[in-house]
Amino acid sequence: MTRALYPGSFDPLTNGHIDIIERSARLFDEVIVAILTNTQKEPLFSPDERLEIMHEIVQPRFKNVRFDVFNGLLVDYARESQAQVIVRGIRAISDYEYELQMAMMNRRLNSEVETVFLIPAESYSYLSSRLVKEIAQLGGAVKGLVPESVERRLMKKFKKDL
Ligand code: PNS
Repeated sequence: MTRALYPGSFDPLTNGHIDIIERSARLFDEVIVAILTNTQKEPLFSPDERLEIMHEIVQPRFKNVRFDVFNGLLVDYARESQAQVIVRGIRAISDYEYELQMAMMNRRLNSEVETVFLIPAESYSYLSSRLVKEIAQLGGAVKGLVPESVERRLMKKFKKDL
């Protein structure tokens, strides 16, 4: 039984994240999507809102995926939740340096947890939550980049009409 953790800020959940969740759900027996709450960045969506989005969009689609919020060190959370694998998505070479650094540091902190990198569909290779927020705030279209309910929530936050 292999339990994988897919950690991130998910602020907000994008179709790229869903792609990685889908691939993880196929590879591992159980996947925990772990939402970081004590991020240094000021989040647009509260932890409760991000959990609500997961329950609404991801839960109905995958039987072996569950959600949680965490703060503190990822490796501590991995130990507590008895996960053997950390999943991270890599979109481009530019992601690799930072991801490698995190993976090596996490290995140093807990050598029993293995980091696995998954590559999303090509169409999501340039997608990020940061860009989605910026585009939505400036009135651009984010259709097809995020689930419809996230799109609606973004429009509401930035008081734009769909
Ligand atoms: O979606 P993000 O913002 O790229 O996710 C980053 C995340 C949550 C995976 C990373 O910031 C993290 O693991 N934070 C928890 C604190 C921690 O363990 N830091 C040491 C990492 S080597």
